[in-house]
Amino acid sequence: MIQPLIEPIFTDAQVPTGKVSWQSPSNIALVKYWGKKDIQIPCNPSISFTLSQSVSKTGVSYRPAEGNSYEIEFYLDGVRTEKFEEKIHTFFNTIRPLCPFIDQLHFRIDSSNTFPHSAGIASSASGMSALALCIADIERKHLGSISTDDEFYRKASLLARLGSGSACRSVYGGLVIWGEVEGIPETSNEYGVPLNEPMHEVFKTYRDSILIVDAAEKKVSSRVGHGMMNSNPFSAERFAQAGRNIQILIAAIRSGDLEAFIKITELEALTLHAMMMTSDPYFLLMRPNTLSIIEKIFDFRQQTGLPVCFTLDAGPNVHLLYPQHHEQEIKTFIANDLAVHLHNGFYIDDKVGSGPAMF
Ligand code: PMV
Repeated sequence: MIQPLIEPIFTDAQVPTGKVSWQSPSNIALVKYWGKKDIQIPCNPSISFTLSQSVSKTGVSYRPAEGNSYEIEFYLDGVRTEKFEEKIHTFFNTIRPLCPFIDQLHFRIDSSNTFPHSAGIASSASGMSALALCIADIERKHLGSISTDDEFYRKASLLARLGSGSACRSVYGGLVIWGEVEGIPETSNEYGVPLNEPMHEVFKTYRDSILIVDAAEKKVSSRVGHGMMNSNPFSAERFAQAGRNIQILIAAIRSGDLEAFIKITELEALTLHAMMMTSDPYFLLMRPNTLSIIEKIFDFRQQTGLPVCFTLDAGPNVHLLYPQHHEQEIKTFIANDLAVHLHNGFYIDDKVGSGPAMF
């Protein structure tokens, strides 16, 4: 059960009318969250880069509800979209104990993504974090129950997590940890926290070229994939491994050890997919072009010595990660060697971003 932290609610005369708008980015995990308990409590800690160009923009107009519970209209790119409306109903139902005031409001939610639909990129982290920021903002504006920025982002991250686990990391810029990490006392299973300093300069401007291998919607949702970890025979060791990997990765990020960063990042990506391949029923989200790209990255790195590596999310697309100062060489590599494996030669040129913003 979710324990309510606070129970802000309007008196009848106070129920407000207004609008809040937030844009929030997607994120890419380096140490992966795969497997959960209860309500989006992760089985292991994860850490991600918040991106900059792949963003959801969400405006929420609110006014007093006509009935006794929240009312929702959801528009994607200006078109009322029932599929997402249902997801938002489920989300609002879950966050009700933490935000009882939502039952007093009618919401018109307008959302759009800066990345194309056809890119096959999940919008749940950016979309859910943008919506969570809007809900927390309504509370901050009208109820006086949130007084500091820290409280505001923490509440937004907590709400975002209940919508889509990884969304809780999109509430902050830079590198963000979700889940309890030994030696970092502020970390929590309930919300994300930004990785505090010191951090090596190279990671503050890291680049992510998202190579679109296949734009089709994935055959197995991450909700189903997480569930299969309950019966995966390797899950206990996987959760323990993630705990060790995050320690090594954080140390590498602090010291600028690119070799250790590359090793853990690629190991995590392949382990995530190994978990899918060893679930019952087993499934495969990589495509032949995913593997061709990975092999070319291995060869390119060996031949040039450049510190470029890959990660994968729960799909076939490849995130190519590299320091900003190698951008030219890597763009040439993509154009000459990798473009042939991409869906219409398409990739998204992204990088570490500074997190969400009001608009
Ligand atoms: O937040 P979800 O339920 O969509 O799961 C995300 C899972 C991965 O993207 C594969 C890993 C992660 O940590 O983001």
